[in-house]
Amino acid sequence: MTDQNNTIKFYSGEQIPVELHKVRIVQKLFLKPVEERKKAIDEAGYNTFLLSTKDIFLDMLTDSGTNAMSDNQVSSMLQADDAYAGSQSFYRMQEALRDVFGKHYVLPVHQGRAAENIVSQVFIKKGDVIPMNYHFTTTKEHMELNGGKVMEIFADDALQIKSDKPFKGNIDLDKLRAIFKEYGREKVAFVRMEASTNLIGGQPFSMQNMRDVKKICEENETMMVLDASLIGENAWFIKQREKEFNNVDIKDILLEMCSYADLVYFSSRKVSSTRGGGIVTNSKDLYLKMRDLLVLYEGFLTYGGMSVREIEAMAVGINETCDETIISQSPSFIAYAVNRLDSLGIPVITPPGALGCHVDAKGFLPHVPQREYPAGALAAALYIISGIRGMERGTISSVRDENGEDILSDVELLRLAFPRRVFTLSQTMYMIDRIKWLFDNRELVGGLEWIEEPPLLRFFMGRLKPIKNWPEKLIARFKKDFGDSL
Ligand code: F0G
Repeated sequence: MTDQNNTIKFYSGEQIPVELHKVRIVQKLFLKPVEERKKAIDEAGYNTFLLSTKDIFLDMLTDSGTNAMSDNQVSSMLQADDAYAGSQSFYRMQEALRDVFGKHYVLPVHQGRAAENIVSQVFIKKGDVIPMNYHFTTTKEHMELNGGKVMEIFADDALQIKSDKPFKGNIDLDKLRAIFKEYGREKVAFVRMEASTNLIGGQPFSMQNMRDVKKICEENETMMVLDASLIGENAWFIKQREKEFNNVDIKDILLEMCSYADLVYFSSRKVSSTRGGGIVTNSKDLYLKMRDLLVLYEGFLTYGGMSVREIEAMAVGINETCDETIISQSPSFIAYAVNRLDSLGIPVITPPGALGCHVDAKGFLPHVPQREYPAGALAAALYIISGIRGMERGTISSVRDENGEDILSDVELLRLAFPRRVFTLSQTMYMIDRIKWLFDNRELVGGLEWIEEPPLLRFFMGRLKPIKNWPEKLIARFKKDFGDSL
């Protein structure tokens, strides 16, 4: 299994991911001293979403809207055709989507969750179930708001942190059949597959799994929906890890993946390195069912809440999703970071996936109980000692049950995203170095508790504080080891 497309073997024998691009526009960064970082995280309520970028050195919160655009994308924005209706920019984008995803009808939306809103409102009714490989935060919220129940049917070993299973994003076919049997096809709104399954460590599914899921959907006359926000990376993993596809063009892999879905939706903030999103289908009937809501929530059919400049860049970006060197750049840096951290004994999700490097906070901070949010505490601690902003993907990102108790997350992850073509290798090495230091001093990191907890999607806006004064102790140790070296 070779996962390192941009990765070159050096004379020393080391495998190094080499940038197959050159940097032509840069943004200055600042690494503020540790005391200022402590002040910033105090003000942000120990929630990295609430930090200001002026206080951040490496922003590894997400790849959403932060991938570097290509020269061709930026130049395409100049030819944008400003029009409320019938813009040529839209037609160019529609053409690109028809070509790359193989779907005729295109509904533009302002971002991925807007697509989730429309799909959920149109296709889910109260009491329905929606089987899927794993949920995404906004996906689940939209489905539940419309009376649906999310059912995650990943394989039993998909959540195992250390693994060499190439496709942990696969749907378990027996569990899918059992759902149809238990609920009956009328209650299954649709089956959803998420490419490069975000919340379980950016793990892909295989083409064979898609084929098998499609077959079960057909037997039960049920729609299959594909969340294609990270489809490029999933296609690349299929090429690397699924023998049948080792010599197949990414373009053909993308077309085959989309061919199994009755409806494909996506966040362009990820897939095409722009902003925006879309829903595509070959069914006129499905298209017509969604069209009116699009005009109500998003804007006219030829812009869907996006600027025409973004639409132009999206057309180019969708085509660039077929370029292996572009879609493999982030996974090859992630593989480098994951392999290094793993060899240092630091618990990270393996095999390396898409989107980011995922540190297992339960394994990293075994002394912090899940109710004290180890992934949130780890995100805050890493920010304090490095200026690196990661994202909590654990119980803070979960919800409470009807009795007000935390629903403990299956996995407690600190996600360190690698937006495409943004970070250099020395920045990646800095990240690895500071995580190793934190790991060696992990007994100093304690838990968090709420100060302000919003009822909906609490991880975005909620504020917390450290239990006891562990940040002060951590900073004292940091200064002892690094002196004034920030
Ligand atoms: N689906 C998946 C798989 C996603 O990863 C996201 C966003 C969405 C839908 C929603 O799209 O943000 O454009 O509204 N993921 C971002 C992340 C937020 O950081 O992983 P959106």
